[in-house]
Amino acid sequence: MDTVRIFDTTLRDGEQSPGASLNHYEKLEIARQLDALGVDIIEAGFPITSQGDFEAVRTISNEVTRPVTAALARCMAKDVDRAGEALKGAPNPRIHVFCATSKIHREHKLKKAKAQIIQITRDHVAQARQYVDNVEFSPEDGSRTELDFLVEITAAAVEAGAATINIPDTVGYATPEEYGYIFQYVREQLPQLDEQGIVLSSHCHNDLGLAVANSLSAALHGARQIECTINGIGERAGNASLEEIVMAMKTRSDQFPDLRTNIDSKRIYPISRLVSQFTGLQVQRNKAIVGENAFAHEAGIHQDGMLKHRDTYEIMNPLDVGIPDSKLVLGKHSGRHALNDRIQQLGFTLDPQTLDRVYEAFKTLADKKKDVYDEDIESLIESELESATDIETFKLVNLQVTTGSGTVPTATVTVADASGMHRTQASVGDGPIDAIYSAIRSLTGIHIDLLDYQIRAVSRGKDAQGEVTVEARHRDRRVRGRGLSTDIIESSAMAFIHAINRIKTLDNRLDNADARDAEQP
Ligand code: KIV
Ligand code: ZN
Repeated sequence: MDTVRIFDTTLRDGEQSPGASLNHYEKLEIARQLDALGVDIIEAGFPITSQGDFEAVRTISNEVTRPVTAALARCMAKDVDRAGEALKGAPNPRIHVFCATSKIHREHKLKKAKAQIIQITRDHVAQARQYVDNVEFSPEDGSRTELDFLVEITAAAVEAGAATINIPDTVGYATPEEYGYIFQYVREQLPQLDEQGIVLSSHCHNDLGLAVANSLSAALHGARQIECTINGIGERAGNASLEEIVMAMKTRSDQFPDLRTNIDSKRIYPISRLVSQFTGLQVQRNKAIVGENAFAHEAGIHQDGMLKHRDTYEIMNPLDVGIPDSKLVLGKHSGRHALNDRIQQLGFTLDPQTLDRVYEAFKTLADKKKDVYDEDIESLIESELESATDIETFKLVNLQVTTGSGTVPTATVTVADASGMHRTQASVGDGPIDAIYSAIRSLTGIHIDLLDYQIRAVSRGKDAQGEVTVEARHRDRRVRGRGLSTDIIESSAMAFIHAINRIKTLDNRLDNADARDAEQP
């Protein structure tokens, strides 16, 4: 049996999804759950781009020590130094250096000749080796790079000390046969790679919906590391989805003979929920493996078949991906111990202080609603972890709304600012939410544009909590905000205030915007 290493880049490429920024606690919690899931490598960030990424790499590499922690760096001395600093003292560090190699990137982005690109690759891989033994090199836009140049740069990177060569399909352009052939070709031209135990890796984007198929094709042609993300989140149409790759290899092991991963598939569903909650990126209902409909059989003929024999219409058992077969309901008589048990079954490990806060919030909620479901608990945890690092500059104190046919919707909102002072404002709008948001803009003095507004019932029943997620833009920044309440008007206001508080938090971080804007892949 050969192991295909799973390199998870949810915290780096995944976090590049528009509006999906994660705070420090959320990143650490995701890293802990990735560890429990069994991933081999966690790409924790791109340290040169922001203080937040630097700290995420530093904390994760020192606290989540079983998997390798990778930090990304361009072929620039300052990037490699910053990645090296972030990984200092970590037991299992890797620096992942990349440089674009395709003709189009060489001529239009880098404006460098092939020989220069070979040289900077050698220099920066060697520089990275001064910090760590474990260096990965990626020729960015590798799938559109001339095959002979790809071979040349691979040989140069290995000579300079890289142990993993990742060939990205950066723009999601490749097809499975073509992508698989690239791996076959490189291995045929450089037999020393296999002899020296150099690992070839795939990294696929999903612009044509082929990211998973391409990754699997790479594995069939010798890739022994696959880079992917939970729920397939990532730039544009996203990256290859971890759960689909793992379950395809497991369910169709006949097609992937002698290949295995180290993933504990029963942990897939809890981490999918966690990432969706933290990023605010909802999983589409019909998404393979983790979507709400993935195991729902609606048609009568299917239901009949299922009742007679599950295998008629079900190729995987939902329990194998960690979808619980029954949901435990908690209520106001459930104690701290029962809550903590459930939290652990949902896959979370909370420190005692966070657990205390979640328990307080749970009691308040259980007073308002009879049954508290798993989804309610997940949302409470999410809110607590979020507020642990977001600066709560503004807090909703009071809200009144008048609306109806033939009435001009009017909202009167009171918020407390950071000093605790109350500010009140009345505004009108096209609808009640518009009126509330207009009042909040005036009160906070922060003019954010609403890009998206979504509402969903977190759990069942007429007392279900309503969760509102908003996406908003402030200058060149996009942020998400969430609000949760049994009153949807209140959760709408809370979501908007949360987005404003997030902007304040981000403004307070020492972001190196230049690096991120200019050359991030
Ligand atoms: O898509 C890409 O090319 C990347 C590299 C940095 C590996 O994300
Ligand atoms: Zn990528």
